[in-house]
Amino acid sequence: MRSTRLILLIICLGLAAPAAAGAEPFFPHTGDSRLDVEHYQVSVSYRPETGGIRVRDRIAIRATRTLRRFSLDLNGMRVGAVSVKGEAAPYRRTPGKLVIEPKEPIPAGDRFVVSLHYAGVPKPVVDPDGTLEGWIRTDDGAVALGEPQGTQAWLACNNVPGDKATFVIQVIVPIPLVAISNGRQVQGYLDGRLRRFRWREDSPMSPYLAMLDIGRGQTVKSTIAGRPFWTLIDPRLERRSRPVLAALPEVIRFESGLFGAYPFKAAGSVVDVAPKVGYALETQSRPFYPYVPDLTTVVHETAHQWFGDSVGLKRWPEIWLNEGFATWTEWYYAERHGRRSAQAIFVRLYRVPASNEEFWNPPSAHPGTPKHMFGPSVYIRGAMALQALRVKIGTKPMLRLLHDWAVGHRYGSGTIKEFIDLAEEISRRNLDPFFQRWLYRRGKP
Ligand code: ARG
Ligand code: ZN
Repeated sequence: MRSTRLILLIICLGLAAPAAAGAEPFFPHTGDSRLDVEHYQVSVSYRPETGGIRVRDRIAIRATRTLRRFSLDLNGMRVGAVSVKGEAAPYRRTPGKLVIEPKEPIPAGDRFVVSLHYAGVPKPVVDPDGTLEGWIRTDDGAVALGEPQGTQAWLACNNVPGDKATFVIQVIVPIPLVAISNGRQVQGYLDGRLRRFRWREDSPMSPYLAMLDIGRGQTVKSTIAGRPFWTLIDPRLERRSRPVLAALPEVIRFESGLFGAYPFKAAGSVVDVAPKVGYALETQSRPFYPYVPDLTTVVHETAHQWFGDSVGLKRWPEIWLNEGFATWTEWYYAERHGRRSAQAIFVRLYRVPASNEEFWNPPSAHPGTPKHMFGPSVYIRGAMALQALRVKIGTKPMLRLLHDWAVGHRYGSGTIKEFIDLAEEISRRNLDPFFQRWLYRRGKP
């Protein structure tokens, strides 16, 4: 009786999660590990009356294995024609997926283009922790945010952090709306009642860092220290946001001094009235704020341009490499700007009693389930781990470690194991017991 139940349970688990080998641990149904996407060229037409979009998506892909069929991630939408290498290709839909079967198998190493059209009303995605992402309507438009799974609400893509590509995102909206996305604006012109805005991100970007914001207002361009900034602030938040965002060039300068040259060709900010979102996001080259940001949040999202965006993740459970680092940077920024030192912050937080399960668990380096990926043990306990490391190896080696990490993995991705190896190399110490205690073991370290 017992063993049949056990066997049934194992079978059921197997059916519930037919994860392919090499699948993303937190979201085993997303991504196709045999694809290496090189470029997305997207055009999105938005209709305010219905909230609907029509999308043309051209994706340049390299096959890393022979492909008889392959899948892209896409939620809902009515898919029209799909072609592979210019030839119509049959496809089918499963939840969150578009499975495409090219006429001929695609040999490993081949480069090919998939073209597709689809339309529909894109939807928000509810995260395992109850927060919202995906396509979120605002009172004057919409915002698309993708961490960790939301981009597939509007863009058919290979939705895993490790598959970075360049992007051209064009958005067509009726007057008087405007649209902003990642990277540089390469075109924005009128076409009758419609306005077309084209944005281009030339540095490799994970799909989850793609952003699109549609609303009223004016995109403002400025050039600071030779770098173009594009900023869109909802007119209602403009007066209060401007003075905070005025610090962005200094924040970039400060962080470049620590972590190496700012990684992207453009910078800027998007501030919109999006109360349902409730969090800021480090969308590549141009973070998104759903309310008037404060300086600490600007410092945090800007630090992510190095840790998260330029140095990406291979797997979501290693999110500490993003959030622990961006949070520690907040503390160090405060310290170097005449406020409380990072160590003072650490000492105060270390008083949190061991009985506070929520605070100390799960351990920062394996949040266990996606429900905890944005929890305090990843952010705060995670930043404490870096501060404890700084105290152990010294400030100079610590800063060298962060710098070499950012420079060594620029435009790529890293793993916690690689970070530990680098820390040991730079400090010339065996740090295994230290990292075990601070990153992997449950409870207060
Ligand atoms: N990475 C964001 C930050 O800067 C938080 C994202 C939260 N995402 C979510 N779906 N709750 O901390
Ligand atoms: Zn963050």
